[in-house]
Amino acid sequence: MIKAVTKLSLLSLAALLAGCGGTPGGIDPQLYKKYQAGNEKLGQVYYEQVCSRCHKAELGRAISPADKASREWDQLFGDDRHGQHPQPLSYFFSAAYRQQASHIEVVQVYRDLPAEQLRLGLYKFAILGAKDSDMPHACK
Ligand code: HEC
Repeated sequence: MIKAVTKLSLLSLAALLAGCGGTPGGIDPQLYKKYQAGNEKLGQVYYEQVCSRCHKAELGRAISPADKASREWDQLFGDDRHGQHPQPLSYFFSAAYRQQASHIEVVQVYRDLPAEQLRLGLYKFAILGAKDSDMPHACK
């Protein structure tokens, strides 16, 4: 079992390094370009520590990037919607939010980072992890 998992992750890693001759994640190149400048590693940490932390607390479950297709995420980000939640997504990158959430490690560590960089990184992370963009499928 462990062996199979390792083999799979090595394959995914090889695919990632090779880039599959296309856009990372296999998503629409134009869509990717929009978020390309983002740092998805930072985005992932922000997603986990800010977004998922609250979803687990308030909804009792995390919302995963793979719950939506890349176009759906793109639409959501463009509209700056957030379900029925009173605060739009952009609020969670604002100085106002970051000030009151400074107990969260990633918020504290990156407190001086421009909101735009956090936003782009997080959006890129979500797009790359979307249900239509996982690496093995992109390589077929
Ligand atoms: C302070 C708590 C909180 C934070 C922080 C938060 N959310 Fe949410 N989010 C919610 C709640 C509550 C809902 C459910 C709203 C509803 O009932 O429609 C929700 C719903 C969602 C949905 C589902 C809405 C839809 O249209 O499908 C998405 C996607 C989402 N959040 C993404 C994010 C992302 C990305 C972040 C981080 C940038 C984030 N959320 C941060 C509380 C939060």
